[in-house]
Amino acid sequence: MLVSATEMLQKAKAGHYAVGQFNINNLEWTKAILLTAQELNSPVILGVSEGAGKYMGGYDVVVGMVNGMLKDLKITVPVALHLDHGTYDGCYKCLEAGFSSIMFDGSHYPIEENVAKTTELVAAAHARGVSIEAEVGAIGGEEDGVIGMGECADPKECKAIADLGIDFLAAGIGNIHGKYPANWKGLSFETLDAIQALTGEMPLVLHGGTGIPADMIKKAITLGVAKINVNTECQLSFAAATRKYVEEGKDLQGKGYDPRKLLAPGFEAIKATVKEKMELFGSVDKA
Ligand code: 13P
Repeated sequence: MLVSATEMLQKAKAGHYAVGQFNINNLEWTKAILLTAQELNSPVILGVSEGAGKYMGGYDVVVGMVNGMLKDLKITVPVALHLDHGTYDGCYKCLEAGFSSIMFDGSHYPIEENVAKTTELVAAAHARGVSIEAEVGAIGGEEDGVIGMGECADPKECKAIADLGIDFLAAGIGNIHGKYPANWKGLSFETLDAIQALTGEMPLVLHGGTGIPADMIKKAITLGVAKINVNTECQLSFAAATRKYVEEGKDLQGKGYDPRKLLAPGFEAIKATVKEKMELFGSVDKA
């Protein structure tokens, strides 16, 4: 059964580790992430952007697929199904469809409007036992057409949003979705420190987990980050493994074109990436 992400993230913050949110795109992604979490006895959050939800056929398809896998694959570790960077309407759709966690990304609204919409969605989510993440300070880069500038959040605005009863907070600290440019300045630990000082126990979320060096990840966890989002890195490892299979001509040998064979190396590559991240984040054996 899907669970809200609140308890797993409160435990992570108290225990000084982070739970990975791995974004899903299809059945292979979902199965690879769930099986790895089960093998490593780690809690996990499946992230679904609005674009990925649409790609998979809709939120009911996603909920049906994930619930079916939890049952048939006998997944017993805590799993949350989370809307990533949700719009106001998207949040309501996912609450209806049976997601166990949502993110309302109101970071592009003026703070007053972000506060008003977040307040309303907190009540709607909590009435269903669903956890809710909010965002302050746009995350840089591009994801599903949403373009952020990579600004650092204002700690006072973080405190204002955290006080609305949300369960975890995404705050921009110079992080960027996708690959980091060579001239990236790194995470602003000064900002993170100031945000944690004002928001206390609130689990903090680090978006743009792809390509952040291990030492920065570890430091961010010591400063209150309890959820780390990874998307692009699984896409890169899937693509590289699939490319290798095709370039070696394996799809042309025997029944190598069978999708169960063609997609197998990419599937294994996602598993390896997820394992590496769970080990780095410290969530192994924390289920
Ligand atoms: P990356 O694609 O950079 O890993 O970011 C993922 C993310 O933050 C999803 O919200």
